Amino acid sequence: MSLLRLTNVSKAYRKTPAVSNIDLDLMSGVVGLLGPNGAGKTSLLQMITGFLRPDTGNISIAGHDIATDRGLLAARRQLGYVPQHPQFFVQWTVKSFLLHLAQLRDLGNKAACLARTEECLSLVGLTEKRNAKIRTLSGGMLQRLAIAQAMLNDPTMLILDEPTAGLDPEERLRFRHLITQIAAERLILFSTHIVEDIEQTCNDVIILQQTTRYHGNIQALIAETIAAGAVWDCQHTAPLAIDHRRIISSMPQAEAMLSRIVGPPPAHVQATPATSIGLNEAFAWVLNPELALQERSHGGN
Ligand SMILES: Nc1ncnc2c1ncn2[C@@H]1O[C@H](COP(=O)(O)OP(=O)(O)O)[C@@H](O)[C@H]1O
Ligand SMILES: [Mg+2]
Repeated sequence: MSLLRLTNVSKAYRKTPAVSNIDLDLMSGVVGLLGPNGAGKTSLLQMITGFLRPDTGNISIAGHDIATDRGLLAARRQLGYVPQHPQFFVQWTVKSFLLHLAQLRDLGNKAACLARTEECLSLVGLTEKRNAKIRTLSGGMLQRLAIAQAMLNDPTMLILDEPTAGLDPEERLRFRHLITQIAAERLILFSTHIVEDIEQTCNDVIILQQTTRYHGNIQALIAETIAAGAVWDCQHTAPLAIDHRRIISSMPQAEAMLSRIVGPPPAHVQATPATSIGLNEAFAWVLNPELALQERSHGGN
């Protein structure tokens, strides 16, 4: 049975569509939800967690239809959620905050709640901070506290909305490590606009831009992008007269610039098809197929 199933889910804000016709069927593993700002990631995750009602479509979690009160309650028992902007009681200590949430969620008597609080603190590496006031924590520690609260009920499905936003490189590494550690036999769905975080943590990616633009294996997408001949390395001395969204990177060299672009190279530019690419290039290609084609009329290869 699938853990998370969406059929034809759509949501508009005052008639402006934000999320359209999403079908999804997920079991377990770490799945990245990748999309630029405004792509609809938060709206989609809020619908999955039951905080936002879809205009159309159905969402079920472990077979529970979350449109019904009973279904939502049953689904929430299996769900952990880290919202994009988590709220904390900043005057509380780390431990009293988690204990309070454990008790609110009905996770047994006080001893059981205390035990689970300590387990979750240890899981995210905050044991030593248990008696610190929340307002004294760094951004990375707050992020880990948010993950700890989402793990209290030992969820089968963990949803994180932009968990790496604002983290420094060290905290970012730590986050990846933590995700890998808690991934076993769970579904982790996390959104980001940062390609590297997906590339180094997930096998599968959902690329969202209002609708699902791609869903599947990352390596398969990269292979597909290479096979389509979508990415080129250009050597040029004058600036490339193409849409800036097509330019993945530019590096000055001794005598010329070396730029990697998506879509056909302009005429009279020395270009070779790229054979070693990453998700960055594939992402640009998936999101901008019209760009890749648009300038073909001027292009030569
Ligand atoms: N409460 C809201 N009212 C009106 N428009 C909204 C609201 N929330 C989001 N939107 C719009 O819906 C689109 C998707 O937003 P969001 O789901 O936050 O995307 P993301 O999380 O990918 O940045 C954006 O165009 C945003 O401006
Ligand atoms: Mg968002």
